[in-house]
Amino acid sequence: MDVTKFLPLDLFAGRVVFVTGGGSGINLGIASAFAALGADVAICGRSADRLAGAAEQLNGFGHRVLTQVADVRDAEQLAAALDASERSAGPADVVVCGAAGNFVAAAENLSPNGFRTVVDIDLLGSFNTSRAAFDQLRRTRGALLFVSAAQAYLPFAYQAHVGAAKAGVDSLMRNLALEWGRYGIRSNSIVPGPTAGTEGMRRLGDVAGEETWTSMVPLGRYAELEEIAAMAVVLCSPLAAYVTGAQVIVDGGQGLSGSALFNNAVGTALDKMPDAVPDRVPDAVPADAVSGTR
Ligand code: HXC
Repeated sequence: MDVTKFLPLDLFAGRVVFVTGGGSGINLGIASAFAALGADVAICGRSADRLAGAAEQLNGFGHRVLTQVADVRDAEQLAAALDASERSAGPADVVVCGAAGNFVAAAENLSPNGFRTVVDIDLLGSFNTSRAAFDQLRRTRGALLFVSAAQAYLPFAYQAHVGAAKAGVDSLMRNLALEWGRYGIRSNSIVPGPTAGTEGMRRLGDVAGEETWTSMVPLGRYAELEEIAAMAVVLCSPLAAYVTGAQVIVDGGQGLSGSALFNNAVGTALDKMPDAVPDRVPDAVPADAVSGTR
């Protein structure tokens, strides 16, 4: 899908869009859609090399492109990145909180630091970004967009850390919609389904298998990056001027079928790994084996 076929080329002309985790995947796809519709784009991430590669792609749209190396877990780095973006391009009209971390791990094998790392990147990172962007967004009466996941509202096995983080992100999204509406700031999230060409699907698709994912999706295929990005730009545009506090699911219907196929496929894959949990419950737990029944 090419958003420029359906939306005006100058929809975001003269606007500034700041995207965390913008060096790759869905976030780069979102940054590209904004740039295609006329925006100046600032992307931030941890890897200077990745940002440089992304900037090459974004430069092709002919608008201003800025890169800032910053880790969203570090509030000072984030504030410095947003300040630098404002000095160079002006205050942000749109801020996308997209930086995220993910891996599959059985909860009983997940270290406290592993859990904290994902919560810190996804949730604390989203807070740091919104908090640091508040002053700019207040002046532009701008929009916040969070990149959530189905794990926010549906438990997925081996994703306890991601579920906690993303549920927190959506809660934060709603809170900010409530608190910052009076400043004219809108706050929404999108929930992408399995999306081709992303780090997330490399991590989750490799373990569960592409066939598992596509059979979970009523539309029967992965999303294209552009399909996720299209909803992102619409939500942050005047077309959605009265939309705030919304979790918008863009998943081909994936969440409707639950997470059982994923859970079984990843459980089987993890069982074959050398550090598999030795005593995974094989079939069913008999009624008289439950604590308190004997
Ligand atoms: C168990 C793991 C692990 C794994 C890391 N850890 N990988 N535990 N299984 N596979 C643990 C480490 O052992 C360590 O704990 C802690 O996590 C921190 O690990 P570091 O490697 O030091 O952290 P860091 O370098 O900050 O890397 C963060 C990361 C990494 C999340 C662990 O994977 C990353 O940078 N990911 C960014 C890219 C990414 O994940 N993108 C996908 C987003 S997709 P100990 O106790 O040993 O110190 C997404 C939604 C998908 O979010 C939804 C699809 C539908």
